[in-house]
Amino acid sequence: MSCCSPPRGYTSLFSKRAARRDAKRYCRSGLDDTGEEMVEFLRERGVEGATVLEVGGGIGALQLELLKSGAARATNLELSPEYEDVAAELAREAGVSERVERRLGDLVDDPGLAGEADAVLMHRVVCCYPDYEGLVGAASERSRRFLVMSFPRSRALIRLGMGAVNLAARLLRWEYRTWVHPPEAIVAAAERRGLTLVQESRSRIWQVAAFERAA
Ligand SMILES: C[S@@+](CC[C@H](N)C(=O)[O-])C[C@H]1O[C@@H](n2cnc3c(N)ncnc32)[C@H](O)[C@@H]1O
Repeated sequence: MSCCSPPRGYTSLFSKRAARRDAKRYCRSGLDDTGEEMVEFLRERGVEGATVLEVGGGIGALQLELLKSGAARATNLELSPEYEDVAAELAREAGVSERVERRLGDLVDDPGLAGEADAVLMHRVVCCYPDYEGLVGAASERSRRFLVMSFPRSRALIRLGMGAVNLAARLLRWEYRTWVHPPEAIVAAAERRGLTLVQESRSRIWQVAAFERAA
């Protein structure tokens, strides 16, 4: 997207205020259902000692849960710098600060920002990025074992809702847009990098796709 800063609108949407709101919700009610399902997929397969990479992790709630479940270390790679203070506070409260590394940047523009990890997660991220092939491809290439993603289902009502968000963004002169990329193409992008789809589910809005790399 850009070499040095997130596109206009990103920090208005993914802002300090959004970070505080997300943290409040997480502290009150834990993960949302989709996030919980993604974490549970990994817990069931065993996370003890695993390394985790969360791309676009926001406050980092998924990685905190995995660290509390025994994962060794987590790296969070974020485009928006606005989450950092809140994320650091949450990690401190969870007693895992020493095991979390937070980096800023765009995984597609600068894939070297993130090393490989046993498990790579992208929760509600693919819909915030125009180049799904580049993003899913880069995330897949960083996964030694698992890749777990959530993204919007391609339904008329969801596309309509996303269209309304994009209209508002255009009126506000933000560069930010939201995307309903074809789910089968997202899955195919991971499969082309040697990952096998092992679990898939759909809620009203979100689709979860979990992949494993053959040993
Ligand atoms: C809708 S938010 C989701 C945040 C968090 N995963 C959650 O579900 O609460 C999408 C996040 O993805 C980040 N993002 C989008 N594209 C990215 C990229 N190419 N590299 C790193 N972060 C990215 C955005 O900055 C934003 O914080």
